[in-house]
Amino acid sequence: MLGAWLLVGLLLGSGGACAAAPDRAGAPPAPQAAAAPGAARPPRPALPTPARGRLGAAVAANRACEGCHDEVAREWRASLHRSADTEPAYRRAFAIEPMPFCRGCHAPEAVPAEPEPEAVGALGVGCVTCHVTAASSADASAGVLAAPWTRPGPPPAAPHPVVRDARFAGAAACASCHEFPFPTARGSRRPEHLMQSTLTEHRRSPAADRPCADCHMPAGAAGRRSHAFVGSRDPAFVRSAVSVSARRTSATAVEITLAPANAGHAFPTGDLFRRLEISAEALGPDDMVLGQADRFLTRHFAIRPGQIGRHLTADDRVHAAPVTVALEVGPAGEGREIAWRVAYQRVAHPGGVDERDAVVEGEITVASGRLAP
Ligand code: HEC
Ligand code: HEC
Ligand code: HEC
Ligand code: HEC
Ligand code: HEC
Repeated sequence: MLGAWLLVGLLLGSGGACAAAPDRAGAPPAPQAAAAPGAARPPRPALPTPARGRLGAAVAANRACEGCHDEVAREWRASLHRSADTEPAYRRAFAIEPMPFCRGCHAPEAVPAEPEPEAVGALGVGCVTCHVTAASSADASAGVLAAPWTRPGPPPAAPHPVVRDARFAGAAACASCHEFPFPTARGSRRPEHLMQSTLTEHRRSPAADRPCADCHMPAGAAGRRSHAFVGSRDPAFVRSAVSVSARRTSATAVEITLAPANAGHAFPTGDLFRRLEISAEALGPDDMVLGQADRFLTRHFAIRPGQIGRHLTADDRVHAAPVTVALEVGPAGEGREIAWRVAYQRVAHPGGVDERDAVVEGEITVASGRLAP
């Protein structure tokens, strides 16, 4: 049995030969080592997907992974993958739109059409969801998906089969959950129908040839990749997405420029209710606000009477090119200091579409400053 798995591993490119060219979702599959004459090529392993329905079997198998891989497990337990079904932000949004569709990704080991048992919800996106892609079993003995080995020397022996696949080291490992259309536009890939579009944004970004894991799973001192999956809750990481500069263009106006830096996709990406607030205030004595202006950079949606769902009307987030926002604080700004700020905001599922009415659930100041008169 182990011998057979070793063969699978070799044919799928273990040893790191394929690692130099991690493929991207949508790109043609990387060429594989030719099978020996007469030998049937084994089927390529499935990549992680939503809606797995393995229920208690997944919970039990995950406990076994955690028991042996304790450092990885500690990182994962504090991650948003682990709390995908229990995060307060998700629970509030799900209460407004309780659809089986949501469960497919936020409780992927559940059966989407049925309420998830508590332990299956608490598992969220588990080790087994990403690493054991067999439909029938969640156990490590079904084969654990891994990236090609690229460190010096042979990989340490594992007590379970390890199936190495170059696609698992690329964006394809994340694709089925991090890009998808609105449930009302199932099957569509048109940009205006996408509820999340991180993969397309990544393909068009200056970091297109860097796998998601390069930034989201950085390797630690021992060379092992982090499973904390840092993102929207990490101020230093969020600030690294852009470099910001500001200048006064007249007595009452400022210009703020956001140039892409370390983001591998649009900033912000992900959930549709993420945005940047760019603001400026003319300050009087004791910092009294005398005049103010702001703008939101986000995907802007409209609700059209008689039509289902939201309709994308504009996308002014930071993509591959710098974005400059001009703000006019009004005549009160003349001869006054102007304070400016760029804030990354996580916004609650809005009832309407007025951006100023939105409830901000979380905020990180990306950059701020003051410009003398
Ligand atoms: C009985 C202990 C044990 C269990 C249970 C176990 N593993 Fe492992 N696993 C190991 C050891 C030991 C290695 C080799 C050393 C290493 O890579 O940490 C390994 C290797 C791996 C690798 C390959 C790392 C690489 O690239 O070389 C992955 C991925 C992995 N395990 C994931 C899992 C997942 C997911 C589960 C649960 C489905 C699991 N393991 C269950 C002990 C275990
Ligand atoms: C969201 C998907 C995802 C989840 C959840 C996840 N992993 Fe991973 N894991 C990956 C990917 C992708 C890699 C390979 C990254 C690379 O090397 O390119 C990886 C790598 C690993 C490795 C090799 C690390 C190294 O660099 O040596 C181990 C071991 C591992 N995972 C175990 C686990 C265990 C145990 C859990 C649960 C506690 C878990 N993973 C949860 C996606 C995931
Ligand atoms: C089975 C579906 C699934 C797969 C596969 C998956 N993710 Fe996720 N991921 C999620 C869900 C759901 C969340 C949202 C959790 C929450 O906050 O409710 C998430 C959250 C994240 C976050 C945190 C976002 C934030 O707001 O901070 C990062 C970063 C992330 N994923 C990266 C990855 C990467 C990189 C991969 C591929 C190696 C991957 N994910 C694979 C479902 C998945
Ligand atoms: C070059 C580095 C880099 C690469 C490559 C990259 N990201 Fe990110 N990602 C970031 C940074 C920095 C942030 C924080 C700023 C932000 O929120 O966009 C982030 C944020 C996120 C978030 C949180 C949502 C948000 O914007 O608040 C998700 C989800 C995410 N990335 C998923 C992915 C996925 C999936 C891929 C691969 C298709 C990927 N990232 C590739 C750097 C990267
Ligand atoms: C195809 C997979 C998928 C489906 C279906 C899905 N989501 Fe998500 N969801 C994600 C991913 C991936 C993220 C992480 C992106 C980010 O953090 O910006 C996420 C993030 C979120 C967040 C932000 C959570 C946080 O902790 O900040 C909310 C809220 C959310 N989803 C609600 C929903 C609701 C409600 C539904 C059903 C109407 C739904 N999602 C359907 C994959 C999915």
